[in-house]
Amino acid sequence: MNAPTLINSALNVRGQFPAIADWHYLDSAATAQKPQAVIDAIVQAYSRDYATVHRGVYERSSAMTASFEVARARASALIGGLQSDLIFTRGATEAINLVARALPREGRSRVLLSSLEHHSNIVPWQLAGYAVDAVPLTADGRIDLDAAEAMLTDDHRVVAFAHVSNVLGSVLDAKRAAAIAHSKGALLLLDGCQAVPRLPVDVAAIGCDFYAYSAHKLYGPTGIGCLWGRAELLEAMPPWQGGGAMIDRVTFAETTFLDPPARFEAGTPHIVGAIGLDAAIQWLDAIGLDAIHAHECALVAECRTALSAIPGVTLYGPEDSAGIVSFNVDGVHAHDTATILDDCSVAVRAGHHCAQPLMDLLGVAATARASFAAHSDSSDIAALVEGIHQVKRIFG
Ligand SMILES: Cc1ncc(COP(=O)(O)O)c(C=O)c1O
Repeated sequence: MNAPTLINSALNVRGQFPAIADWHYLDSAATAQKPQAVIDAIVQAYSRDYATVHRGVYERSSAMTASFEVARARASALIGGLQSDLIFTRGATEAINLVARALPREGRSRVLLSSLEHHSNIVPWQLAGYAVDAVPLTADGRIDLDAAEAMLTDDHRVVAFAHVSNVLGSVLDAKRAAAIAHSKGALLLLDGCQAVPRLPVDVAAIGCDFYAYSAHKLYGPTGIGCLWGRAELLEAMPPWQGGGAMIDRVTFAETTFLDPPARFEAGTPHIVGAIGLDAAIQWLDAIGLDAIHAHECALVAECRTALSAIPGVTLYGPEDSAGIVSFNVDGVHAHDTATILDDCSVAVRAGHHCAQPLMDLLGVAATARASFAAHSDSSDIAALVEGIHQVKRIFG
């Protein structure tokens, strides 16, 4: 077995993750574990550096404001954007809700989604009153862009697709999706939650209009995410929440608002969250997303080969999925599989993965999902395989 040696040595960052010693953590698609550099940055921000941002005139507050804005610049640069076009939100969910609520509709009433979307990219549009159409998938689990092209009408305001599926790992041809959306005057929003931790992303090269992601899936803290938007679109959007920090002038008769991104950031922001996100991005930059992508592709290939050699294991999604392998063991509920794997110190997610329409399409109630990160290696796959054999032994 040569492959394990290769994959073990590829990134060599496992020791930087204090939470995964003696544990095979294969649930990074749900939330990523944090490297020590991120933990240290958060501790320092709360202990030595803490102060509010954008308000205090004292030096510590000015320094924190500068760090907060550097974090914004880096969070935008990570996906090829400018500092001024990046709004901090509570997560990708809030980012998508923001667009669904605040985007002027220009007389259009529909959104085009796909059958593999996370609930975070379905429910906000429904709550905002859009009519929803869902593009089918190809046989190997990608968003069918030929079908999207055929389904798109002049009444669609937004096409909103996952850049990488959180269940199947399938990677969208995002450039083509942008061209299709724009051909009918619609906008393209990409849900980049699963893409940003595992692929280099460039919003300008893609040509998308909005891009949403969450820090906690990117080795950063929970409670903070990002919405990047094209400047002229953000400029045309009214605020969706009101409060401090987003106003220009308030009287009881009338209130005027700041320019984006401040217009969309009512209230005291998640200051330390931004600092933690910045530390995570610097940590990622030092490794390189190209290297992480190559590492995860090798792990996916090894995992798919190993699991498909086990009789009675069904794999979902395309061969070249990004960092994510969903599977089921015949006749065993995914929750039972995950429970037995837990006894073997292997953490996988089991359930509908917040993608119930996709489960309906696959004809299953749930799947088990192994998802990889920079710290994953062949020992995780070996433990997973051994755990699945244990599942089969127990269920006969
Ligand atoms: C593809 C995708 N979109 C959206 C979300 C929602 O992200 P959050 O809960 O961080 O807002 C997730 C999280 O699981 C996801 O995987």
